[in-house]
Amino acid sequence: MNIAMIGTGYVGLVTGTCFAEFGHDVTCIDKVAEKIDALKNGEIPIYEPGLDVMVQQNAAEGRLHFTTDMAQAIPAADAVFIAVGTPTSRRGDGYADLTYIYAAAKELAPLLQDYTVVIDKSTVPVGTARQVERIIRETNPEANFDMASNPEFLREGAAINDFMRPDRVVIGVESPRAEQMLREIYKPLFRRDTPIVSTGIETAELTKYAANAFLAVKISFINEIAGICEVVGANVVDLAKAIGMDGRIGSKFLHPGPGYGGSCFPKDTLALMRIVQEYGENVHIVAAAVEVNAAQKARMVRKIRDMLGGSETGKTIAVLGLTFKPETDDMRDAPSLTILPALLEKGALIRAHDPQGMEEAQKLLPDDIQYVSSAYEAAEGADCVVLMTEWNQYRALDLERLHGLMRQPVFIDLRNVYEPEMMRRYGFSYTGVGRK
Ligand code: UDX
Repeated sequence: MNIAMIGTGYVGLVTGTCFAEFGHDVTCIDKVAEKIDALKNGEIPIYEPGLDVMVQQNAAEGRLHFTTDMAQAIPAADAVFIAVGTPTSRRGDGYADLTYIYAAAKELAPLLQDYTVVIDKSTVPVGTARQVERIIRETNPEANFDMASNPEFLREGAAINDFMRPDRVVIGVESPRAEQMLREIYKPLFRRDTPIVSTGIETAELTKYAANAFLAVKISFINEIAGICEVVGANVVDLAKAIGMDGRIGSKFLHPGPGYGGSCFPKDTLALMRIVQEYGENVHIVAAAVEVNAAQKARMVRKIRDMLGGSETGKTIAVLGLTFKPETDDMRDAPSLTILPALLEKGALIRAHDPQGMEEAQKLLPDDIQYVSSAYEAAEGADCVVLMTEWNQYRALDLERLHGLMRQPVFIDLRNVYEPEMMRRYGFSYTGVGRK
């Protein structure tokens, strides 16, 4: 199968590379020449475990190509995936900005030859695929193509595994021919008995938002329950385990923390709220989850303040982890972007470490943060350690050493990585989230 992938952002690059790994002939297209040049040299613009090797191997074996020129890839393609960015619109109203999608549709339309399936891979509001279809038909009335929607459910840091072993593949199609083409593309997965859910196009588009909104609700739910646990003296970790054993609830995504971040949940929850508003409807539960998430970050600031005796002014805070989750350098909507400025504003001094995210963090956080090369360096002379992101290298810290380095042995564990009892044994004044 010959595949063109428009957009070499996170989704496009991972998806294109994995399709090449399946054995398809894939050309990834991007407007940014430096990005394409780098990719041709095997340099990967994002940090995603395993992706670099997979890109290099598939390129070397001649199945993965990179170009800035659509004309080099679209005419020969059986399937054209659109995976360009859909950032939250600059208008600040939560809408997804579809400029790049529509521009891609206009540009690819005259290049279509023979029968092609055009598939929307980007997360887009319901109705966008129809709009793309209309643009292509208007631009090139001769084009012989079908439109489809194929949302992705990749987690950053685990994207390759999620792609190769998905819980399901969702394809929104309207013609048997397009469905056949997509089934063919995903055939290596069917051999592993991966379920394929074939739906209408609008259903596929909405499925993506519903899945992310549900997960965001689940996280906000457990974060809210964590707050209640702290008040009544209960333990949210035990509670989550107990409710999670109920098969109807499930144990995943019940880990309390400083609030969800990343490229999907914050953007997609807002976009869903805007989409339904256009139809004069509401998604009250999702709106509440968004509100709880903002409150959770503010609650973390108060938690740190309390642990510092009521004021962070003049105190040195060691922050371990800046990215929104481990195994990524992505800082988009990371809780650290809200929590750290709030602490700085009140006169705290911050020494921060992150295994991958410091370069990106420096662009987004206030200048007065000091970046250091290890957790221990961050802890030197600190009044407290805040474990913000649960990177593996923070999971087995040398606690004796850490304790010895700090001015005050206060440990604030926003990911509940450590056992309270053990921390007390090491002499720390310790708090987690939802554990009195
Ligand atoms: C998510 C979805 O999981 C994925 O299917 C979708 O395609 C894109 O959005 P991602 O944003 O990469 O993926 O990360 P994920 O692992 O889902 O975590 C998102 C955020 O929720 C992180 O900030 C994480 O720390 C937080 N989280 C997750 C919790 O606070 N508690 C949990 O139990 C799970």
